[in-house]
Amino acid sequence: MKSNGKTPFALEVKNITRSLPLGGEPIHILRGISLQVPRGEWLALTGPSGSGKSTLLGIMAGIDTPDSGQVILDGVPITDMRERQLARIRNAQIGIVFQSFNLIPTLTAQENVEAPLYVSVDHRDAAGRARKMLVRVGLADRLRHRPHQLSGGQQQRVAIARALVTQPAVLLADEPTGNLDQQTGAQIMALFARLQQELGVTIIVATHDPQVAGCAGRVLHLVDGRLAPAPPEVRLRQPALEGGAS
Ligand SMILES: Nc1ncnc2c1ncn2[C@@H]1O[C@H](COP(=O)(O)OP(=O)(O)OP(=O)(O)O)[C@@H](O)[C@H]1O
Ligand SMILES: [Mg+2]
Repeated sequence: MKSNGKTPFALEVKNITRSLPLGGEPIHILRGISLQVPRGEWLALTGPSGSGKSTLLGIMAGIDTPDSGQVILDGVPITDMRERQLARIRNAQIGIVFQSFNLIPTLTAQENVEAPLYVSVDHRDAAGRARKMLVRVGLADRLRHRPHQLSGGQQQRVAIARALVTQPAVLLADEPTGNLDQQTGAQIMALFARLQQELGVTIIVATHDPQVAGCAGRVLHLVDGRLAPAPPEVRLRQPALEGGAS
């Protein structure tokens, strides 16, 4: 993946705090989160429902703003950036995958993956780059299908291709297997493993599923708004590299 070569970290988070009002009283969701993600690492964030995983991921993605602290993406501080500049960074440098795929229903797989390239400054050979990424995620024979003509696992593959087509500094995934059955979820984790190996993608996955977390190279656990090492129920294991598409 692209890099400015100034730092070994794809992403750094420095002392992030975030509170949200709940019935007038602020509740402290993140109480000083710091972490560093070296390029090419696969990190999992776990923690019970409501522990702030999605909030932290949203702040890393520049979608949400922390009360204090800084997010540094590939050596560039993004937290205090103006919206125009931040929008450009989000498009080019951050790939996001959600539980619910979030594909555009009226566009084909190919068109969904091309879309971020038309927003970015460099849209040379958008069609060719989108097709290559779809082939890479195992969808060579589904380019002209629309989301409703694809299985859940195939839709998530399209979303992953769309997230990676701009060659972002990080891939952020929020419960990427949450809408999939266990076997299809395992296939998506195997795809992540292959993309990490083949492209050197830096991956951060938020999940409450210990099996999914265990596929990562490192696991951090959110407890009371702070990060701690993973609890014992998360056992690190290498996901099997996949054979074909689901
Ligand atoms: N817009 C909002 N206004 C008020 N409170 C919010 C808002 N968004 C999230 N919260 C609260 O922030 C806390 C953290 O939510 P978050 O979605 O980050 O948790 P999570 O770890 O991703 O949970 P899950 O595993 O269920 O996805 C929760 O207590 C939630 O109720
Ligand atoms: Mg969440």
